[in-house]
Amino acid sequence: MILPIIAYGDPLLRKKGQQINKDYPKLKQLIENMFETLAHADGIGLAAHQVGHPIMLFITDASVIGEGFSDFRKVFINAQIEESGDEWDKEEGCLSIPKVYEHVKRPSKLRIKYYDEHFEYHEEEYEGMKARIIQHEFDHNNGVLFIDHLTPLKKTLIKGKLNDITKGKVDVDYKMRFAPPRR
Ligand code: NI
Repeated sequence: MILPIIAYGDPLLRKKGQQINKDYPKLKQLIENMFETLAHADGIGLAAHQVGHPIMLFITDASVIGEGFSDFRKVFINAQIEESGDEWDKEEGCLSIPKVYEHVKRPSKLRIKYYDEHFEYHEEEYEGMKARIIQHEFDHNNGVLFIDHLTPLKKTLIKGKLNDITKGKVDVDYKMRFAPPRR
């Protein structure tokens, strides 16, 4: 089932994610729905926060990027990351913040400890684009968005677009849920 993606402006995106265990209600279904939702929106990563569950869970599926990414269809639960390496700059976007693309600096390497969908423990190392996708989604699990990494000037420049998204004034070709209007 395709789930609506929560748009920027909803306070749920700002919650610190809770750790979960294998008894989390309908976990298998949630993960299946997240993969379906991600594919429908042509994304490369999706955090549970973005579909209304403020928990430490995100998925990646970067096969659209091409060769070398076919093994990157993964589920990360209760992840902890340690970053290293030089910072590098690349444009990012986010399914919760449609039509906003900005360059973000992030460390180039990381080590991640996490549980997969079967609650098996893993420790892995990533660099480059895969590390970046993990960093972006891991941020979501902590209530952080890629725009939080921008300079104050850049933040000012995108303010109008962000206000429009908050009000639902943006055209998207996937299902979204906008925050209820503030009184
Ligand atoms: Ni995102």
